[in-house]
Formats: sequence, C-alpha cells, structure tokens
Amino acid sequence: RKKVTIQTLQRLRNENVPIAMLTAYDFPTGRACETHGVDITLVGDSLAQVCLGYDSTTRITMDEMVHHCRAVSRGSKTPFLIADMPFGSYHTSTDDAVRNALRLMQEGHAEAVKVEGGIEIADIVHRLTTVGVPVMAHVGLLPQRHVMSSGYKVQGKDARSAMHILESAIALEQAGAFAMVLEAIPHALGRYITQRLRYAPTIGIGAGPDTDGQVLVWDDMLGTWSGHKAKFVRRFGDVRAEIERGVTSYIHAVQERSFPDPEKEGYDMPVEEWQTFM
Ligand code: KIV
Ligand code: NA
Repeated sequence: RKKVTIQTLQRLRNENVPIAMLTAYDFPTGRACETHGVDITLVGDSLAQVCLGYDSTTRITMDEMVHHCRAVSRGSKTPFLIADMPFGSYHTSTDDAVRNALRLMQEGHAEAVKVEGGIEIADIVHRLTTVGVPVMAHVGLLPQRHVMSSGYKVQGKDARSAMHILESAIALEQAGAFAMVLEAIPHALGRYITQRLRYAPTIGIGAGPDTDGQVLVWDDMLGTWSGHKAKFVRRFGDVRAEIERGVTSYIHAVQERSFPDPEKEGYDMPVEEWQTFM
C-alpha cells in the first residue's frame, strides 16, 4: 500500500472515492489501521473518555496526547496520521497554538493536527498552515465545548445555525485547512458544504452519506465498551461480548484448574533430573 498524503486525499475526493478515517489510541489500534487499509488515522481527544476514563475530552493534556500519538505512530505508517489539539492548547495565543502543534508533530510524530471551531479560529488555522503545520478543521458539533452548549447536540438544524456552519467551513478552507470534519449536522447540510468547498475533503461523523469520507471512534464502531451510543454510530463489531466471553472463560478455567493443561501448556523435566533434584 502506498503512503497516504494530502495529495492522495485530494485525489480520492476528486475521483469521488470515499475516504475511511478511524481513531486510534495506542500501538495495536494504530497497527490495525495500518493493516486493514484505513486512509486516515486520527488520534482523537476522544482518547480522554474511551481510553483514559475521563468524563470529558476537556480533561486531556498535551502530554497525554503526545504520549498516545507517539504510540499510534509506531503502528500506523501508511495512513495519514492526524492528532487532535486538546482543549486549551490552541486558544491562548497563536504562538501557543504553533508551539503545541509542533509538539504533536515533533514528539508525537503526527503529520497534521485537528482543531475544533468555526470562523473565530480561522486566524489560528492560517498561522499554523503558514508555518507548515497541516490543519484539519472540525465544525458542527464541537465536543470540546459541550459544557458551553449544555450537552452534545445536533448542530445546523435551523437556517441561522446552518449558515454559521457553512460560513465557518468556507472561512476555514480559505485559511488553509486541508480537510474538514463535519460532526452531527443534517445530511443535506453535509452534502451542501461538501459541494461548496473548493478542494478540502469533508469527513463526516453524523453528517450523512454525501461527505467525501466518514470517521468513527474506534470503540463506538467496534463496541468495545457499553457507553452511550450516539444515533450516528453504527456498530461494526461486538468486541465487548468477545472480551466478556474470553475473560469469564479464563477465570472459570483457573478456578476449576483446567488451565493450564500440563500436557499442552506446561514444560517437562527429564525424570532423572527430577530424581536428582528430589
Ligand atoms: O476525538 C475524536 O475522536 C474526534 C472524531 C470523532 C472526529 O474528533
Ligand atoms: Na476530537
């Protein structure tokens, strides 16, 4: 498989070939993205909830993102590798944004960063891209602002909100974003933004079938745990059931002493050696 670059993503968009993006949080999940043909691996800040057990993405730090991104990068080589800039790491100043983005690239080995927000962060996106940090934008539902918006809600359902998202998408593309996540918006709006953008592929999550690509959170998609399932999630696996089956069988086998089997899962000692030893 050939290395996926920004140029590859633009070609896929132009040829109308859907782009498959998936999150990864550690070496094995990165490795799975590599092996099974994912186009873009995203070290999402959803890491906070699904991997680290925080109650919100706003808890995660730069150090944690860097640490996990680096692990993912060891497994995911061919897909394009993007890391989320965590909450608070790109709003205090454009210098802070550049410094933190560079950490994700230099220490975390990410190839690009993703930032949540609309037209109000266009200057940050512009600054990052002018110093050579490729930026993926993220509009619509912004999980980092869930407290501000009193929960995780579909965005762009009324004309005014839809217009704000469209204007943001256009402004962010003009500011230099090479691609854009559209989260939890009506599918007609997802299709319209995708048509209106000039070159940036749109990657939808709850934005309908007409975006240039789709993204899901690893754990949601594979059902590795039993948290809340958003309407836009489809389960493509039932890893939790498999884990339950494996762990309970293991405990049962230990308790009834059927594991380990001395023949198949143990080591022999020559009889003479045993006699000498005794
Ligand atoms: O953090 C994340 O996993 C994301 C994707 C859902 C787009 O931002
Ligand atoms: Na995110």
